[in-house]
Amino acid sequence: MNEYIIETQDLNFSYSKLTHDIENLNLQVPRGSIYGFLGPNGSGKTTTIRLLLGLLKKKSGTVTLFGNSLKNNRLESLSKIAALIENPSLYNHLSGFDNLRIAARYRKVNQNRIEEVLEIVNLTYAKFKKVKKYSLGMKQRLGLAISLLSEPEILILDEPTNGLDPKGIIEMRSLIKSLNKEFGTTIFISSHLLSEIEKTCSHVGIIREGKMLFQNTVDAFRESQNENMIIEVETSNSELLNRTISPFFDKTKIIDDSFVNVTLNSKEEIPVLIDTIRKEEIAIYQVTIKNNLEELFLSLTEQ
Ligand SMILES: Nc1ncnc2c1ncn2[C@@H]1O[C@H](COP(=O)(O)OP(=O)(O)O)[C@@H](O)[C@H]1O
Ligand SMILES: [Mg+2]
Repeated sequence: MNEYIIETQDLNFSYSKLTHDIENLNLQVPRGSIYGFLGPNGSGKTTTIRLLLGLLKKKSGTVTLFGNSLKNNRLESLSKIAALIENPSLYNHLSGFDNLRIAARYRKVNQNRIEEVLEIVNLTYAKFKKVKKYSLGMKQRLGLAISLLSEPEILILDEPTNGLDPKGIIEMRSLIKSLNKEFGTTIFISSHLLSEIEKTCSHVGIIREGKMLFQNTVDAFRESQNENMIIEVETSNSELLNRTISPFFDKTKIIDDSFVNVTLNSKEEIPVLIDTIRKEEIAIYQVTIKNNLEELFLSLTEQ
């Protein structure tokens, strides 16, 4: 069996002739993982999800689901996937239970399953309440319950915690984890918040401007945050500064009269670098972390 339950190869997509919205994307989602698809707003997360579901027509590349090409097996594959892309469309004047009853009938799912999914999403207590009286978090969970009616093997959630209050976020997070643990559901979840992904996911793919910048386990991602940092130092005399630090640091480079770049192995080397420079009493005007990923992390930690 294929190791990856969702895989894309060199996926390309453009909304128009002038744009390149998804560029050579190679997505590899291991079976049984909680995969966090992380990127700033407008980076191409929703577009990618639509491509995975065949809702948009790709320009080139392949999408493989359950080891089969989406092109040849679309209906069969999609019957094993549930996706929550936008806010779920619900009948507000009906109860949660009635919403599920309608969805179950429409999907030809046994009505017994309704009680099961209500239990899973923790809404049994409010099943006869009208949906218009539900909080946003409860509506999201009801949407999830509807998706779960068909017992999907893959659950795709597009920014499921957007707009939820802190309590709703915690509930959604624990729900995602328990679905994965108890039923082995592979969960693909998009977010623009690094903290969200770190708390929930086993794997992470980082996308920016339609391109994948990093993809690995969350543990490997944490380690990589500390590796190979490029530090830019602004000083009064870059020649002198370079001469002073080059015996102690492997990779140093003079950029111009004022700037020197140094590659460090970890954050812990930053104070060592500064002490080395200060010992020679060379002025430091500015120290900046230059890595692309570092800059990206900052944009991902903003709310
Ligand atoms: N229907 C559309 N028509 C044209 N451009 C779109 C459309 N939807 C999204 N885009 C553009 O595609 C890029 C990726 O958008 P999207 O996939 O929605 O990003 P994300 O979900 O990561 O916020 C953005 O530049 C966005 O403006
Ligand atoms: Mg989106």
